[in-house]
Amino acid sequence: MVSEQTAAQVLVASNRGPVSYTLSKDGSLDARRGGGGLVSGLSAIGSEADALWVCAALGDGDREAVRRGVGEPGVLMLDIDPAVHSDAYNGIANSVLWFVHHMLYQTPLEPVFDAEFRRQWASYETYNQAFADALAAHAAEGAAVLVQDYHLALVPGMLRERRPDLRIGHFSHTPWAPVDYFRMLPDDIAEQLLRGLLGADRTCFLTRRWADAFTACCAEVLGADSLAGTRIGVHGLGADADFLRERAHRPDVAERMAALREQVGPGRKTIVRVDRTELSKNIVRGLLAFRQLLMARPEWRERVVHVAFAYPSRQDLAVYRDYTAEVQRLADEINSAYGTATWTPVVLHVKDDFARSLAAYRLADVALVNPIRDGMNLVAKEIPVVSDEGCVLVLSREAGAYEELGEDAVVVNPYDVMATADALHEALTMPDDERSRHTKRLAAAATALPPQQWFLEQLQALRQG
Ligand code: G6P
Repeated sequence: MVSEQTAAQVLVASNRGPVSYTLSKDGSLDARRGGGGLVSGLSAIGSEADALWVCAALGDGDREAVRRGVGEPGVLMLDIDPAVHSDAYNGIANSVLWFVHHMLYQTPLEPVFDAEFRRQWASYETYNQAFADALAAHAAEGAAVLVQDYHLALVPGMLRERRPDLRIGHFSHTPWAPVDYFRMLPDDIAEQLLRGLLGADRTCFLTRRWADAFTACCAEVLGADSLAGTRIGVHGLGADADFLRERAHRPDVAERMAALREQVGPGRKTIVRVDRTELSKNIVRGLLAFRQLLMARPEWRERVVHVAFAYPSRQDLAVYRDYTAEVQRLADEINSAYGTATWTPVVLHVKDDFARSLAAYRLADVALVNPIRDGMNLVAKEIPVVSDEGCVLVLSREAGAYEELGEDAVVVNPYDVMATADALHEALTMPDDERSRHTKRLAAAATALPPQQWFLEQLQALRQG
C-alpha cells in the first residue's frame, strides 16, 4: 500500500544525490549542493509537484543527517550498511561496471571474477534491493520513476516485480561496452544486468552508439526477442548555457582569471583540460602529447602552457590514487626537462575549484578533451559556451560528445600520442576567423538540449509510453 503522505508522482533514483553533508568538529552538519549535469538536469524535478529523489547516504556526514532526521524536502537518503555500500560502489560499480563500459581493463591480468567478486556482487544486489524497496514504498499508483546509471542497473527489474503499475525509465550516463568486451562478465551476471535494465519501459543512453551497443548485447546474450518490452531512448545531455554564462562572469571567476594569466605569463597560448582524475580521461597521454609537441616543435617552447586541472576522484581505489600520482610525476618531469626561469610548461592543479575551472574555460586557446571513452563529456560542451575569444576543441572520437561536436573539432584517436601532438599544433595555429566560426557552431550544438529540457523530454516520453 502507498500512503497518501509519501506517494510521489515522479521519482529519481541515483547513488549520489543532490546534496551531501559534512560533520564539523563542533558536531554541526553542513549541507552542500552538488554540481554537474546530472544534478542540474534532475533539478528540473523541483518544478514537479510530489517529486522525490532517492539517493544513498555516502559518508559519515550523510549518515549522521539521516540519523538526526535532517534533510531537504523531496530528498530521501538511504542509510545503507557502509560495508555493503562500499562493496557495491567501489567493488562492483566503479571497479567492474565502470571498467567494462570504459574498456579500462589491462586484459592479460584483469578482470578476475573470483569468490571475492561474487561476495561483492551479493552486496550490489542488496544495495539495488534497498533502492527498489524505497521506490516501491514511496511511488504513487502509476508514478514515473527515473533510475540513473550503472550503480542501479538491477533496480528497474526489481521494481517492476514489486510494482508493475509504475512507468520505469533507466538512464546510462556512461558508454555501453561492445558485445565482445561485455561478454567478459560471467554469463549469469551479464544476463542479470541486461534483464535488470530491460525491466524498464524505456532504457536510455547519451548517444546512438551506446544505445546500439546495448541492443547488440541484448540480442547476443538474451536473444533477439528480449528487447520486445522495452523502448530504447537517446537523449544527448547538453550544457546549461544560462547558468554557465552567468556563473562565469562573477567576480570570483575574474579573480582567478587574473591569477591564471599571471601563472601562464604574457602573450602565451594555453591548452586547457579540466577533468576528474579519472582513468578514462586519458590525462597521462595528454601530457605525453604535450611533451611530444615541445620535443618535435621547439618553436612552441616558452610560447605555450598546458593548464591541466585534475580533480580528485574515487580516491578509495588504489588504481585511482596511482593514476593521480602518475599525472603529478609526469607533469613534474616535463617541467624539469623543459621549464625555464620564466616559463612553467605544465600548470597542474589538483584541488577542485569550480570558479577556477570557469576561469580556465574563458581563457583557453585550445581545449584538450581526449578520453579513452566517455559517455558524453560535458567539458567539451561547456568550454565553447563560455570561451571569451573562441577556443579550438581537440576532441577524442571516443567521447559521446563527438557525435554532436565532431564536425567542428580537431578529432583525435586518444591512444595516438603523436597524432594528438599534431592535433595540438594544428589547433594552436588555426586562424582566428576559422576558430571563432567553429566555436560558435560548437556552442550552438553543445546547448541544443539543456539539462532541464533533457530531463523533461525523458519524463514526457516515459509517460506517453
Ligand atoms: C561521472 C559519470 C557518471 C557517474 C558519476 C559518478 O559523472 O559520467 O556516469 O554517475 O561520474 O561519479 P562518482 O564521483 O559519484 O563516483
